[in-house]
Amino acid sequence: MDQKQLATEVNKRRTFAIISHPDAGKTTITEQLLLFGGVVREAGTVKARKTGNFAKSDWMEIEKKRGISVTSSVMQFDYAGKRINILDTPGHEDFSEDTYRTLMAVDSAVMVIDSAKGIEPQTKKLFQICKMRGIPIFTFINKLDRDGREPLDLVNELEEVLGIDAYPMNWPIGMGKGLAGLYDIYNNRIELHTDEPSFIKLDENGEPVEKTTELEDSVFEDAIMEVQLMKEAGNQFDADKIATGDLTPVFFGSALTNFGVKTFLDAYLEFAPKPSEHKDEAGEEIEPVSDQFSGFVFKIQANMNPNHRDRIAFLRICSGEFDRGMDVTLNRTGKALRLSNSTQFMADTRETVETAVAGDIVGLYDTGNFQIGDTIYSGKHGLQFEKLPQFTPELFMRVSAKNVMKQKSFHKGIQQLVQEGAVQLYTAYSTGDYILGAVGQLQFEVFQFRMQNEYNSEVVMEPMGKKTARWIDPEQLDEKMSSSRNILVRDRFEQPLFLFENQFAERWFQDKYPDIKLTAKL
Ligand code: G4P
Repeated sequence: MDQKQLATEVNKRRTFAIISHPDAGKTTITEQLLLFGGVVREAGTVKARKTGNFAKSDWMEIEKKRGISVTSSVMQFDYAGKRINILDTPGHEDFSEDTYRTLMAVDSAVMVIDSAKGIEPQTKKLFQICKMRGIPIFTFINKLDRDGREPLDLVNELEEVLGIDAYPMNWPIGMGKGLAGLYDIYNNRIELHTDEPSFIKLDENGEPVEKTTELEDSVFEDAIMEVQLMKEAGNQFDADKIATGDLTPVFFGSALTNFGVKTFLDAYLEFAPKPSEHKDEAGEEIEPVSDQFSGFVFKIQANMNPNHRDRIAFLRICSGEFDRGMDVTLNRTGKALRLSNSTQFMADTRETVETAVAGDIVGLYDTGNFQIGDTIYSGKHGLQFEKLPQFTPELFMRVSAKNVMKQKSFHKGIQQLVQEGAVQLYTAYSTGDYILGAVGQLQFEVFQFRMQNEYNSEVVMEPMGKKTARWIDPEQLDEKMSSSRNILVRDRFEQPLFLFENQFAERWFQDKYPDIKLTAKL
């Protein structure tokens, strides 16, 4: 396609992830969005996959056979003239560094919060990564059809716990059984909680233009009063602050009863950014609309089925156009590659992708060429995107080879899996022990499985539980600082860090050595 067509296509893309704590309603809202996009015809399709209650269709068979969930990783659909890519951020037992890294590949995030629970730990962790990237964050406060906390309380919590300014785009009128509607501040209307969408227009003073019987209910009066108060005392709407992630627009609704979801989606699409520039290693911004195709690998999904040794590398396209069969260069090795085997993801089909553009995600079949963080590009002009950040692991395991005679395959396997980003590896200063670090239990299981199946190395894993990892400036390090309440280790870049038993141990250390600066990664 020519540059003009490319620009049109790229500008249509909206690529985001939904971040939430398990059970807040991510699957349910995703499902509703896919219904609006016409990708699934019935509610329950995504849900069925999550619970393992599959309907029979081809892609699900593939998924079941392979034992990996590939198709759910990226969902693409068209809506209101936009092409939307939703990237899944696995939670529950699947929570892993991949969940974090996925956030490196999106242009915005939707944060779903349970109105009865408010901000929960996983939401907070994921939020912090989005905040660090400076991407826009949209908040959906879910489950309004149930009794939850006071709306004002929830909005204040966003500001106090997450430290982000919040602007309510709409406001609940009643809640739970008494849910009567939403005061839609942004569109200056009232959305009634009725089976069919139904709205009451408001005039410039926020007063209903027509008096209907519903409005006589006191919950309406209360909501109108609260909104007036907020308009006077709360944050002002500011599109620039939304764009930089300094202000989160807040929407209330109920994903389950599909109330307020469309209003959310429409407003989201007004403010969600098109594919943004990505920085290269030197800090230079790479424009999405460009002759040069480029992208980076943010996730590698290994096949859990030993009969299929292939893997899929997930590539975020950062610039230009991808065509199947194109020739590219892998920057890390300088090696030329032909991208003939590529996959694009949909909710109910898995198709070979012929073309894709900046903003899209493609899956590349991989026989071991790619590592997480790799850059590929077309043409002669070399390019490396900036490094993906390291994340602070929280769970640790001591690992060794079961059979001491098989040290060689053990070391080879461990080195490769660590390079691939499957787990983090640390070496204890005092004993030389190998210690693995992860953000979720699944990473250890995948590691153990792959060591056995791909490297024929049976490993012994000894759980060490949760630890607080803190890096120390090598210049300041004295090995005598290590005590029985921490383990001094080095990471794979030879940087020293302490694994503290808990936060008390860290505090104790800081009291003892007040001049030492300890740092966490993200
Ligand atoms: P997750 O992907 O974030 O983990 O959450 P998911 O959508 O699976 O939702 C978790 C539970 O919350 C589900 O109930 C779901 O039906 C419910 N839920 C989601 N959105 C709403 C909402 O707007 N209102 C209400 N009342 N409930 C909501 P479950 O009992 O675990 O599953 P199921 O029995 O409904 O299948």
